[in-house]
Amino acid sequence: MLTLEGVCAARGDRAVLHDVSLALPAGGTLAVVGESGAGKSTLIAAVLGLLRPTAGRIGWDGGPVRACRPALVMQEPRAAFNPRLTLRRSILEPLTARRMLPDRDRLHRLCSGLELSSDLLDRRPTEVSIGQAQRAGILRALIAAPPLVLFDEPLSALDAATQKHTARMIADLQAEEGFAALIVTHDLGYAAAHASEIAVLRSGRVEEITPAARFVRSPQSAYGSRLRDAALVLGALERAA
Ligand SMILES: Nc1ncnc2c1ncn2[C@@H]1O[C@H](COP(=O)(O)OP(=O)(O)OP(=O)(O)O)[C@@H](O)[C@H]1O
Ligand SMILES: [Mg+2]
Repeated sequence: MLTLEGVCAARGDRAVLHDVSLALPAGGTLAVVGESGAGKSTLIAAVLGLLRPTAGRIGWDGGPVRACRPALVMQEPRAAFNPRLTLRRSILEPLTARRMLPDRDRLHRLCSGLELSSDLLDRRPTEVSIGQAQRAGILRALIAAPPLVLFDEPLSALDAATQKHTARMIADLQAEEGFAALIVTHDLGYAAAHASEIAVLRSGRVEEITPAARFVRSPQSAYGSRLRDAALVLGALERAA
């Protein structure tokens, strides 16, 4: 279980996260939604240990998060890849770094779940589409079977049809693999359709944490209601309703 208790974090001199407490059980899905600048990526950096909190505690099953070797799926699909290497080399890197060999059956199963062909894996990042690069990024994140995967806006670089398809693949793989997913997104429709709980982050503070189905019906905070209403106007909650 991932826990954050009273976490404060700063970027330089600027306080960005204020007293953030969250819990994500093993195998669960928690979405953190908030507008640009709310502190979502800062939260991910703190969970990954890339940024030391100025106060509070972050842990996984009572130990440091890094001990569970969490994986990250980045917003920018090609950012996970060295442009000079084939996708395959980069995808296997989390294993080779640990002197592990890929389990062929598992690799095959992940590739088929993400609709990635062997031919595609032998190309370089610039020789595939953004959607394919993002699916390869998800494969790289999952290859070493992490118990915790952090998704930083995993769909925002994709077009609407590709978003829907990729969201489904992530959900199916999560059901098979059982990892806990912390999804940060400004897309309330995605959060409501795929997370069990929604945490609303505003200017670095958690405004509410509500089961997703309940959030769609009745958000608990005034700010959560505004986000929900805006998403309703855009038709973004149809998937979740
Ligand atoms: N390296 C940095 N140095 C100084 N300030 C930063 C740095 N990175 C982020 N910030 C500031 O911290 C605040 C939170 O940024 P963060 O990137 O966590 O937001 P976000 O919710 O991920 O936004 P977005 O949806 O645009 O990705 C913002 O005000 C941002 O300007
Ligand atoms: Mg961000």
